[in-house]
Amino acid sequence: MIRKCLFPAAGYGTRFLPATKAVPKEMLPILTKPLLQYAVEEAMSAGISNMAIVTGRGKRAIEDHFDNSIELESQLRGSKNEHYLTEIKNVIEHASFTYVRQSQMLGLGHAILTGEPLIGNEPFGVILADDFCISKEDSVLGQLIKVYDEYKCSIIAIEEVPINEVRSYGIVTGTLVDGSEDLYHVSDLIEKPSAEDAPSNLAIIGRYILTPDIFEILKDLKPGKNGEIQITDALIAQAKKGNVIAYKFKAKRFDCGSIEGFVEATNYLAELNGFSS
Ligand code: G1P
Repeated sequence: MIRKCLFPAAGYGTRFLPATKAVPKEMLPILTKPLLQYAVEEAMSAGISNMAIVTGRGKRAIEDHFDNSIELESQLRGSKNEHYLTEIKNVIEHASFTYVRQSQMLGLGHAILTGEPLIGNEPFGVILADDFCISKEDSVLGQLIKVYDEYKCSIIAIEEVPINEVRSYGIVTGTLVDGSEDLYHVSDLIEKPSAEDAPSNLAIIGRYILTPDIFEILKDLKPGKNGEIQITDALIAQAKKGNVIAYKFKAKRFDCGSIEGFVEATNYLAELNGFSS
């Protein structure tokens, strides 16, 4: 059973400066809701109530967001504006939050390892909030949990990307599981290869279920691509033992780590909610 979800949220958000100078990039909103709240709600919809957030310097707004605001609530109580707080109140009431700070930015693998004290010795979900996913039925994390329940090993979300974009992603090598169209036994992975070096165009998207042996692997890992401790490299060790399944998820995904993706997601939700002109 997956009870906990880890949210690496310590990055600088350089591409969104100056907006991210004092505001964490995970708090940038699509319409009125911060990216990280969408991510937390996705975990909740997958049956998880324990949220473990890896933060860093300048990220205190995250803790304040997922906490009561007595003054604001008493101001709005009984007024016509009270409903604006309904969704975040629901999150605060039904989920618990733990935090740890990543004091050095040494990569995604390092961020996940920093979360170990919050997770302990159990399988857990990981959501990268800037991969913003909208699905009709099960959330992407919910879909991964279903796969985990069957295979009981690490599960990664993948999507086909144009070959000229593989350099922005972890890329997997795998073979289709017998009789399946969307599940792959992963035999190898490579972080952000050039188009020439890429073994496929199957890109890892920011949703993972990881088994806790990943922490021991991460502890021994040398820096990889861009001098960072990469989760992709840690997954290689599990894949070599046949313990990684990749799953082509069903959802629309926006890369909200880029301005283009962020604008696209905003326009999409604006239209969906009747805000577009
Ligand atoms: C990270 C991972 C990469 C993955 C991507 C998904 O990269 O290192 O393997 O494909 O997330 O968004 P980042 O986008 O943080 O550079």
